Amino acid sequence: MHAFEEKLKKTQITVISLLESAKSPQELAEVESQILGKQGLVAQLINEFKTLSGTDKKQFGSPFNQFREEIRARIAEKKQQGSPSCGCDNASCSIPLDVTAYRAAPIGSLHPETHAIYELEDVLTSMGFALVEGPELETEFYNFDALNIPPTHPARDMQDTFWLPQPHHLLRTHTSSVQIRAMQKQRPPLSIAAIGRVYRCEATDASHDYTFLQCEGLVIDKKNSLANLFATTKLLLQKLFKNDNLQIRVRPSYFPFVEPGVEIDLTCPFCTSGCPTCKKSRWIEICGAGLVHPNVLKAGGINPQEWSGFAFGFGLTRLIMLKYGIDDIRHLHNAKIEFLQQF
Ligand code: DAH
Repeated sequence: MHAFEEKLKKTQITVISLLESAKSPQELAEVESQILGKQGLVAQLINEFKTLSGTDKKQFGSPFNQFREEIRARIAEKKQQGSPSCGCDNASCSIPLDVTAYRAAPIGSLHPETHAIYELEDVLTSMGFALVEGPELETEFYNFDALNIPPTHPARDMQDTFWLPQPHHLLRTHTSSVQIRAMQKQRPPLSIAAIGRVYRCEATDASHDYTFLQCEGLVIDKKNSLANLFATTKLLLQKLFKNDNLQIRVRPSYFPFVEPGVEIDLTCPFCTSGCPTCKKSRWIEICGAGLVHPNVLKAGGINPQEWSGFAFGFGLTRLIMLKYGIDDIRHLHNAKIEFLQQF
């Protein structure tokens, strides 16, 4: 082994043991000057290096530089490692400095659901909808009875309900419950939308959770028709997905609070020729909708002879999962910052 190389290795070992022996800031300062000071170990090596031949300089220059950098890093690390005292006046204080004490909290990010709510609110208000809210803890009347779902109606079983100990109280199973509250508060014509959390008593898996977000829209005017409903939902979805070419298709369906009832599908916003999201069908099921049932208008205190309305409702959480390719609904509530920071 070349004499310089040997010296380098020996110095390395000495440096490590010197650093290990330093137990206080003072000792560390002394050790530092022994290593990096004018007469220190590194200075000695530099002098030795200067005497080397040109080829040796080429050979050992880079390992030597690397060695020096490593020493600086080790010393810096050692200084951080709690060898500094807690900040008191006692020079030999051994209480380590708590470097985390005043560290700013990690910066979070908006939850994907919050992003989606903001976007949807912008779209809805730009289309003239007034944003309204209703309680999540709801009564049987607003969630079922007033929506033309009488107690014996099988449609009550369609939605698994969290019943509360108080009679006739529940966690709302859909945002449709806001319809009646809105009608009771405002005289028609009206155009409202409600975004909010709903609850279903069902087992959770990758695509089901006991709570998720829904959006409900209700428009009441003198002459509302299915054409108004289709034009409105199409425009809303085009704006939401920022794509004017998206089309809708409508299938007949049944919901007690609308007559006729329909389901609306949207051309897949994520592909042009079939993808896993649309299961290669090019269509994505989006919402339930229809013309408001006369019984519902009556329950809201509105004369069905004079006014007509349309309503639609969709799962916002599902749209968020489709949009961001989230494959498990439970990710949305596990509060992992690594997951949330991706949005
Ligand atoms: N409330 C329905 C549900 O949770 C969705 C819905 C269907 C809302 C039809 C509507 C509608 O306003 O007209 O599944």
